[in-house]
Amino acid sequence: MPIKTIIEPFRIKSVEPIRRTTPGERQRLLEQAGYNLFLIPSESILIDLLTDSGTAAMSTEQWAAMMRGDESYAGSPSFERFRTSVQAIFGFRHVIPTHQGRAAERILFSVMCKKGSIVPNNTHFDTTRANCEFCGGEAVDLPIPEALEPSRVHPFKGDMDTARLEELIQHAGRERIPLAMLTVTNNSGGGQPVSMANIRAVKEICARHGIPLYIDACRFAENAYFIKLREPGYAGKTPREIAREMFSYADGCTMSAKKDGLANIGGFLCTNDDSIAQQEKDLLILTEGFPTYGGLAGRDLEAIAVGLNEALDEDYLNYRIASTGYLGEHISQEGVPIVQPPGGHAIYIDARAFLPHVPPSQFPGVALAAAVYIEGGIRSVEIGTLMFGEHAKMDLVRLAIPRRVYTQSHIDYVVEVILEVWRRRAEIRGLEITQQAPFLRHFSARFRLVPAAHN
Ligand SMILES: Cc1ncc(COP(=O)(O)O)c(C=O)c1O
Repeated sequence: MPIKTIIEPFRIKSVEPIRRTTPGERQRLLEQAGYNLFLIPSESILIDLLTDSGTAAMSTEQWAAMMRGDESYAGSPSFERFRTSVQAIFGFRHVIPTHQGRAAERILFSVMCKKGSIVPNNTHFDTTRANCEFCGGEAVDLPIPEALEPSRVHPFKGDMDTARLEELIQHAGRERIPLAMLTVTNNSGGGQPVSMANIRAVKEICARHGIPLYIDACRFAENAYFIKLREPGYAGKTPREIAREMFSYADGCTMSAKKDGLANIGGFLCTNDDSIAQQEKDLLILTEGFPTYGGLAGRDLEAIAVGLNEALDEDYLNYRIASTGYLGEHISQEGVPIVQPPGGHAIYIDARAFLPHVPPSQFPGVALAAAVYIEGGIRSVEIGTLMFGEHAKMDLVRLAIPRRVYTQSHIDYVVEVILEVWRRRAEIRGLEITQQAPFLRHFSARFRLVPAAHN
């Protein structure tokens, strides 16, 4: 019988204590924070599943490489090692370092978009959408219809709807579409992968109309591994070979190295177009820095150069995807409604289905995230009515798993806590806002419990 236990493909050399609190303490902290988990100090969180971005544990090789970091302003060998590593995987001619993903987006859209431009994507991440709109563009999401049904199982729910892409190009005209994008994996759509067949089909349409295709590459290694597991013809290929093929269909990419770069900060922008690259480097100098460091220290470039390769390690990817899937399967088996199938970096709980007695106007996602914190000191994040207002199509609670940080017993603990909250779901009450900012209110809004009689 094959051994089924998921083990971390690493051992632990340096430990960081996490602090237990009592339910009473957590209740008090939550009330002080106005039921907003962003306002709780991280020392009072036992397991922090707020985000998988910039929260990875670095390896001994990364720490060793950081010691080699050369902090020269121009022409640093750390940049050369960074560029060599990026080019070996992504294959693009120009590699432009940035301090994180959104800086790459801002530069890309500043150069390629103008008022009236339209940029299609499977689903724009919020910073991608905001940067596109800031440059006068319209960000259009074209997910396949299956992506909008949380409980529907589909191997590549991150695919773009190619028929709608064709329609958009016919309707709007090629001149208004300076680029198309594909986000791998599709974070806003539940961490769902995009198939190679879909990348190829989107490229074919774009090439026919002369539209460059860019990949939002944050979780490229997880996407490559899903292709290996699920797409016919790829089982015998390495994640690196699959990643190389994915990027061979693109004209450039944006990247936040805080995800599959296994780094705590950093990003980059790539293109094959010499003229676009020159304009991007000119802008880079204005706000990020010289093109051989782009707002990063030499040691950060070194950490990313190593991290990108480690993220493609098959043992690591197997553990990562299996561990996230384990969490999703063990809670959904007991009836907890989640976005199916489990994504690569996170599990998304469907809070409207979890708490049918709490209407969207009473923020079921915020109420559920608060209950999970009180039960077990776990921090998650609402993606729903608080974040998107009345436009929210779903109320989700995202449990994002930092890379190489938590062990299998931490995941078992999370399963136990969620199932306990599930058993007591009828007791969870809705919330009403007492204070909010005019924009991005989810970071600072404060709430109180809706009086029992109104629930
Ligand atoms: C798909 C996607 N694109 C872009 C970004 C932006 O990256 P950063 O946070 O490094 O600016 C993120 C961050 O979460 C993301 O998930």
